[in-house]
Amino acid sequence: MKVAIIGQGYVGLTISAFAAEHFEVVGFDSNLNIVNQLNQGHSHIEGIESSQLGKLIKSGRYRATTQGRDIQGSDIVVIAVPTPLSPDRKPELSFIDAACKTIGQNLLHSALVINESTSFPGTLRNIIKPAIERYSSTQIEHLYAISPERVDPGRGDFNQKNTPRLYSGITSEATEKTRLFYSKFCDNLVEVSSPEVAEAAKLFENTFRQVNIALVNEFAQIAHSLGINVYETLDAANTKPYGFMKFTPSAGVGGHCIPVDPTYLAAVAEEHGAPATFIRRANEVNLEMPEYIVRRVAADNGGTLQGKSVLVVGVAYKPNVADVRETAAELVIQHLRSQGAVVSWHDEVVGSWKSESSAPLQGADITVVVTKHDLVDEKMILASAPYVFDTTGKVKGAKGL
Ligand SMILES: NC(=O)c1ccc[n+]([C@@H]2O[C@H](COP(=O)([O-])OP(=O)(O)OC[C@H]3O[C@@H](n4cnc5c(N)ncnc54)[C@H](O)[C@@H]3O)[C@@H](O)[C@H]2O)c1
Repeated sequence: MKVAIIGQGYVGLTISAFAAEHFEVVGFDSNLNIVNQLNQGHSHIEGIESSQLGKLIKSGRYRATTQGRDIQGSDIVVIAVPTPLSPDRKPELSFIDAACKTIGQNLLHSALVINESTSFPGTLRNIIKPAIERYSSTQIEHLYAISPERVDPGRGDFNQKNTPRLYSGITSEATEKTRLFYSKFCDNLVEVSSPEVAEAAKLFENTFRQVNIALVNEFAQIAHSLGINVYETLDAANTKPYGFMKFTPSAGVGGHCIPVDPTYLAAVAEEHGAPATFIRRANEVNLEMPEYIVRRVAADNGGTLQGKSVLVVGVAYKPNVADVRETAAELVIQHLRSQGAVVSWHDEVVGSWKSESSAPLQGADITVVVTKHDLVDEKMILASAPYVFDTTGKVKGAKGL
């Protein structure tokens, strides 16, 4: 069986590596650099080792391509392309449309098309299926299904194999073929009654995280104003064995999912006349955290940051990954610079970002920890400046939320 995966990023390459243990996989990506790297056996994704990729290439079970025609003859096509927000923060489905074009123009016999890209309910049925049919020069009927991706890059305990996976097809044949495909490399498959339920569940999962992170970020501000330690308070609340789940405060949310997916849900809700007040406000609270943090840092340093050298530690959006998409560090740096601070950043995992490179972990007036990778030494952070503000709760002895 031949499987084509459209998009070879975090989601697409991960699924490619698992599927290639069982099927012939063609990884299609529009980015030639990524494709060249992959074909040379270099993985750009945490969790997929280059050695593993090299073995799959050598065995002939995986190859990457930028050529749409290489997906011809596929029995299954998985869509794993970005679904970001437009500059006016609306769902941006142009990548999905481009993927549909590749599929429509190149799939010349009936196949199962599975969408793994996150989008609002109705995307598979009302957008993907009609688009592929529109781009197709023949009248072939494909099968359509959804199986939202839950991969958490960089995570060791949960992976493709042991993370339960939702799935549903537009027809029962599509549902069954989807089950058979994923059952090769996923132990726990959960069928739901329609693609729309699976699409909505994915958005709700990430909205749940976004709202709870916003709540704890607001609570951190309340606790500080009351002179109470937020971490001790959260640990105390967490002793309740039911009805409570602990989230910890931070500089905000980042990555491709938590800052983005809830806005997809809010957009579709509002389009249908349903309220999304909570979701919208949660997003604002998280986006306001960097400014709050910079205010706290300034207050502790004589009320001004003018001319002070500030080192931001960790610009990736979360520990142990190089991903800087929607990172809260960007807003922290912006606010620091708008206060006249001279800002550099240290992040050896990211290396370079926005034409700047990781600076040494030393010699600053002020250090602000946004993300703490495991490889960064706590003692070195504390020694990097006379004043250290930690937004992660991981650096003992630093000032913090
Ligand atoms: N990253 C995660 O942790 C995660 C988890 C669950 C779901 N998702 C969802 O999965 C989808 C993909 O996310 P990602 O993190 O893998 O993105 P990514 O940016 O890491 O990878 C996407 C890849 O698609 C390629 N691409 C863009 N347009 C294309 C096209 N028309 N044809 C072929 N390739 C194209 C890009 O070059 C890139 O390599 C998104 O909808 C995202 O919300 C991501």
